[in-house]
Amino acid sequence: MRFTGATLSASAGPRRRDGGGFRHNACVSDHSQPLREQDADADPERQLAAWYEQAAASDMRMPEAAALATASPDGAPSLRMVLVKGFDGGVFRFYSNYDSRKGGELAANPRAALLFHWDELGRQVRIEGPVERASAADSLAYARSRARASQLSALSSPQSRVVSDRAELERLVAENDARYAHEQQLPLPERWGGFRLTAQRYEFWQQREDRLHDRLVYRRDGGDWLIERLAP
Ligand SMILES: Cc1cc2nc3c(=O)[nH]c(=O)nc-3n(C[C@H](O)[C@H](O)[C@H](O)COP(=O)(O)O)c2cc1C
Repeated sequence: MRFTGATLSASAGPRRRDGGGFRHNACVSDHSQPLREQDADADPERQLAAWYEQAAASDMRMPEAAALATASPDGAPSLRMVLVKGFDGGVFRFYSNYDSRKGGELAANPRAALLFHWDELGRQVRIEGPVERASAADSLAYARSRARASQLSALSSPQSRVVSDRAELERLVAENDARYAHEQQLPLPERWGGFRLTAQRYEFWQQREDRLHDRLVYRRDGGDWLIERLAP
């Protein structure tokens, strides 16, 4: 399944806060449906595709945005958002800088977790598994699909490195813009490309009344997927 690209815009304002804490709204989503074993698809990828389509059909921004957790070899976790560009055959694709913090952690400890949160539907989906780099051809095809300005920043930005100020970044972009002004295509940055997470475990979480939420986990049992219910 290919996730349709969404763009980042600044339309969502900051959440209101009361007295230094985040405002809490415990309402269960109007759209929440029970997640029952008899309704769950035997294949977690099809179950995810059905939920993703409902998320994409709602008004939410960027349903393909997910939190990506990685960890250093000694187990210190780190977390950030990425855009998951699609999944197929149990493989989830996202793109980033191989020299970034996440890139370094994945090189040293090639396992990760993704979390989608679709608040409008009262749902979250957790996905865990090993990660490898995508092929250069895949990374190139994705890079070429992006606007030139986005390609220029990916090419120019030493992601996760300390820079002296914003002017340094703008200078790096301007230099590459001038260098490749007469080229039809920008080169693929050597240190930038795709990652592929192969799902070994999924958890589908559905918000329910009075905190008695539904949680169904899919895990491998030989060649099949075993579905188990976890207490909320
Ligand atoms: C909604 C959203 C989507 C993002 N998507 C990506 C992405 O697909 N790839 C990426 O490298 N960074 C993305 N970012 C920026 C990352 O969250 C992060 O700042 C960056 O990748 C550096 O992370 P790191 O220092 O842990 O490697 C996104 C941020 C947000 C808020």
